[in-house]
Amino acid sequence: MRISWEQLRENILRCENCELGKGCIQKVPGQGDAHAPLMLIGEGPGEQEDRQGLAFVGPAGQLLTRMLAAINLPRDRVYICNVVKCRPPHNRQPSPEEIQACIGHLRAQTALVKPRVLLLLGATAVSAVLGPQYRITRCHGQWFERKGVWIIATYHPSALLRDASKKKDAWEDLKRVKARLQELSLYSDLFEEENA
Ligand code: URA
Repeated sequence: MRISWEQLRENILRCENCELGKGCIQKVPGQGDAHAPLMLIGEGPGEQEDRQGLAFVGPAGQLLTRMLAAINLPRDRVYICNVVKCRPPHNRQPSPEEIQACIGHLRAQTALVKPRVLLLLGATAVSAVLGPQYRITRCHGQWFERKGVWIIATYHPSALLRDASKKKDAWEDLKRVKARLQELSLYSDLFEEENA
């Protein structure tokens, strides 16, 4: 049986599946449209996210907001969360064990949102969702279909802030996301306005 949003939130807030919860200020479950056709998955909360309890609100989040705006998507029309819900110390990558400990929350979240399209942001999301054998450098911009959900990966916005030369590829990836959403007649209110 599928759990409710309230139950999921409670499970995340009380979670002690790994040690990350002991070192963070607060858990960051994720936010946005609870039934969004497009769901975005990042790596884990950073400093600002840990302070505010919201996903992608620091510098990487601000870039993400601009990237979505570039394809005419306001942030509040998508659902945004992370693979791990607690900030890893010094923003290190979560370990495979920490990802495993948290993956049930992400699965429950995906089952509740029921997105038609999933956008994976960076290597950790790719490894957690597609499998550790997939590499972001090779698989970004490619479509995968799993149980009726279209999945695509692009570079993490933090990686784009570190290395601007990746922005061109990320823009191509985002244009593919928009084209797929249009093909599936999703967000037609937003994209119709554009064609008017
Ligand atoms: N990086 C992430 O992966 N997620 C956030 O929420 C912020 C930065």
